[in-house]
Amino acid sequence: MPAVRVIGPGRAGLSLARALEAVGWDAKRPLGRHDDIAGAAEGVDLLVIATPDGAVEAVAAGVRPVPTTAVAHLAGSLGPDVLAPHPRRAAIHPLVPLPDPVTGAARLVSGAWFAVAGDGLAQAVVEALGGRAVSVSDEHRALHHAAAVIAANHLVALMGQVERIAAVTGVPLEAYLGLARAALGDVAQAGPAAALTGPVARGDTATVRRHLAALHPSERPAYAALAAAAGRLVGERPARPYQPPALLERGADLRAVLDQARSVGLAVGLVPTMGALHEGHLSLVRRSAAERDLTAVSIFVNPLQFGPGEDLATYPRDLEGDLRLAAGAGADLVFAPTVAEMYPGPTTTTVAVDGPVDVLEGASRPGHFAGVATVVTKLFNLAGPCRAYFGEKDWQQLVVVRRLVRDLDFPVDVVGCPTVREADGLACSSRNVRLSPEERRAATVLHRALTDAAALVEAGERDPDAVRRRLADVVASEPLVRLDYAEVRRAADLAPVDTLEGELRLLVAARVGATRLIDNVGVTVPVEPAVVSAAGAKKVTAGSQGGG
Ligand code: PAJ
Repeated sequence: MPAVRVIGPGRAGLSLARALEAVGWDAKRPLGRHDDIAGAAEGVDLLVIATPDGAVEAVAAGVRPVPTTAVAHLAGSLGPDVLAPHPRRAAIHPLVPLPDPVTGAARLVSGAWFAVAGDGLAQAVVEALGGRAVSVSDEHRALHHAAAVIAANHLVALMGQVERIAAVTGVPLEAYLGLARAALGDVAQAGPAAALTGPVARGDTATVRRHLAALHPSERPAYAALAAAAGRLVGERPARPYQPPALLERGADLRAVLDQARSVGLAVGLVPTMGALHEGHLSLVRRSAAERDLTAVSIFVNPLQFGPGEDLATYPRDLEGDLRLAAGAGADLVFAPTVAEMYPGPTTTTVAVDGPVDVLEGASRPGHFAGVATVVTKLFNLAGPCRAYFGEKDWQQLVVVRRLVRDLDFPVDVVGCPTVREADGLACSSRNVRLSPEERRAATVLHRALTDAAALVEAGERDPDAVRRRLADVVASEPLVRLDYAEVRRAADLAPVDTLEGELRLLVAARVGATRLIDNVGVTVPVEPAVVSAAGAKKVTAGSQGGG
């Protein structure tokens, strides 16, 4: 029977010595820190250096080489070359935790996996133990070791996180162990991608956000990193059986592609735009790409929503650039039809939305919202059931589209997204490129007026007239800007308000030179249950400025 000696009587070394002894090897007395190791390779077939990784090289150098003795180490991060003075050298890395010599030895003889490299005796050791050997090249050693550390140590670290969180809720750690065991069992059965369940697998980002909000800040980075890793797993799942074309021009093609996507269970996101894409548009695309399996962006400068004398002919267009930007933000396809494709003959059927369309933009641009509602109806009909992303930048349009969906029962979930601004506060808009440098600077007055007036409401102002005056006054301070309207309205439906209460929206439109710009922000004045004091007065609390 072969003889083996171990240097380094720790958990790993003693586990291996015991395991080899159990299968009939002649295990010599292990050598420790105080033993003379110079002759350790003599009289044995295998010398195992089981010291901490950092000491392996120095220990090997202190042992006199014996041409017939193989020298091996157990360090997962090192190759056999660190044992350089010895002609026969090997690395044997057991892929089982070895918490103590008894448990360790039992695991080593129970069909364990070993990563081996170098001298053939390493293979013989694994065979003697009844284990399974896999060889890892020097090039991949660090990667292999990283995978092993993740599988063993990081899994334990995750359970440590579970334990800390469980300590807050009062649920015992043991209650979660069944989950962990079953999950690992599923991974063994079906592989990680198929075993993944939970909010990320369902695309339920709202729940992930709720978890992050509930967790202690120190626990969030690990949760977020693992949620991202889970997302990667879902993305890598072969859930996309076809590669949709990047550019579609026909409505029938859009319908066919999205129908096919839904038929295999993919969730569709739609981002309607008129092109000349900027960060505002791209924020909608990114949101959809994060929440949906397939994101379609439509690019169509819709003639129906431009009035006579408006900028239809000169509206900025750059399909090439848009395709690149949309793809970069995560769009799977772009639908860019011609006018003839969308409106093959004279349009005799249009969609009109009453109420929220008659004021503000509707009053300044007659027919505009009928044009928007008509094209959005067509897009929704072509796209089919989906989540559709619209910007709060066009608040009134968002209100109109929500009403349209509710009134006509479109199978569409409308998502409003916050306004994206330049560093100086100007809302991103396709029309900003038209501003001269002076006009560009002057245009920032819109956002200044909105934040100033919002601050007034927050400071307790409850008179809508005073807020409108403040908006107009700030805008008037900029001679290059001509105010079109300045309003404060109920956010949900743009109804006029007598007193400032609840969810409100401040909205402005103005001309800067020849360019018409719009902007808005939200303000919330909490509606408190009327507290009637001795004097019978109603108490009102100032709220904070909303997003957008
Ligand atoms: P367009 O002006 O190209 O805007 C497309 C979408 O991007 C709209 O939902 C708009 O609100 C959003 N958006 C524009 N600027 C934004 C910004 N700075 N931050 C966040 N979102 C922004 O709106 C239209 O096109 C058309 O009316 C359309 C709905 C496509 C119908 O033709």
